[in-house]
Amino acid sequence: MALSEYSTRLLGAYAEQPFLMAPMAGVTDPAYRIMCRRRGAHLAYSEMVSVAGLAYASNKTWRLVLPADEEQQICVQLFGSKPDQFASAVAAVEERVGDRLSLIDINMACPARKVVTKGEGSALMRTPELAEQIVEAAVGAAHVPVTVKIRKGFYAEDRNAATFAQMLEGAGAAAVAVHGRCATQLYTGQADWSVVDEVADAVEIPVIGSGDVFSAEDAAERLRSSGASAVFIARGIYGNPWVFGDARALALDGTPVPVRSSVERLGALREHLTLTHELLPLMSRARTYASWYLKGMPHAAAWRAQVVRCSTYEEFMALVDDIERDVVACEAALAAGESVPAHPLEA
Ligand SMILES: Cc1cc2nc3c(=O)[nH]c(=O)nc-3n(C[C@H](O)[C@H](O)[C@H](O)COP(=O)(O)O)c2cc1C
Repeated sequence: MALSEYSTRLLGAYAEQPFLMAPMAGVTDPAYRIMCRRRGAHLAYSEMVSVAGLAYASNKTWRLVLPADEEQQICVQLFGSKPDQFASAVAAVEERVGDRLSLIDINMACPARKVVTKGEGSALMRTPELAEQIVEAAVGAAHVPVTVKIRKGFYAEDRNAATFAQMLEGAGAAAVAVHGRCATQLYTGQADWSVVDEVADAVEIPVIGSGDVFSAEDAAERLRSSGASAVFIARGIYGNPWVFGDARALALDGTPVPVRSSVERLGALREHLTLTHELLPLMSRARTYASWYLKGMPHAAAWRAQVVRCSTYEEFMALVDDIERDVVACEAALAAGESVPAHPLEA
């Protein structure tokens, strides 16, 4: 079977940058996407958004979907269970996002209880006929590629990703992403990449692999050793917006992944806080992000206890200055063979 124009176009994009910023509710907001794009991410996904009433949604909901001014492209992920709502949501997204819309992705992978109990997300892997109607409705309405993200199966014993992906391909999906866990596993246990290979063997359309890609090295290794044409990086972006550029340089040019100094990482945290302040502004998210950047730094636990007390941009920025002074002093002491000084608040 010849590949469709959309699948061929996606394969071209994956060859250019095979590491994609995976959709993550509560994480992949415009600020995080820009942090990663400035360091080598290309295809990046919105947080998932419900198709129910999207066409008439508030600006707050549309903020989950629309790219920031600096973003050249966006992949928008939709979830729901009603084919006609997908058709109207696709039309509304195309109208609002315009020519920066790279593709529409349909979520058939989310295991969250409030989603699954409505027959949405990963529950659709148990209702393949409805899933097929949803893809057909979205493809019929779309002027961009429609892709689908699935899991290994709903229950472990289902393991129906390969046959399900064949159905999606027949319904017009231009690519399929596979997270190698079943839905009931949530995010526990290990991702099973043999299911990614099973799907890649079963379909002609490009396959994106997902699961336990925590570093640039993991990402490059998964691309090399699996049948996937592209690899999703999800939790691997925590505190590491460089991961896309690093993985690409390693996989395509063999460039070793650089070690980043604490000062460079704190500089990125300042940039991330500023973007969050300007674009969202949701400083509650910044508490989580800040903790991720502190990983492995001296006195990280004590500084995290301070981070959770911050609520304004100014408080965050002042705290990062304190952290930097302390980290520089600790690292200088270690380099001189001396013991690490006490945390400033405990001294
Ligand atoms: C906090 C969080 C939010 C997520 N939200 C979404 C989502 O909205 N849509 C989706 O398809 N997958 C979502 N995922 C799943 C990821 O895209 C990815 O498939 C999964 O985390 C496995 O990759 P990893 O083990 O490398 O993190 C989410 C994962 C996490 C940890």
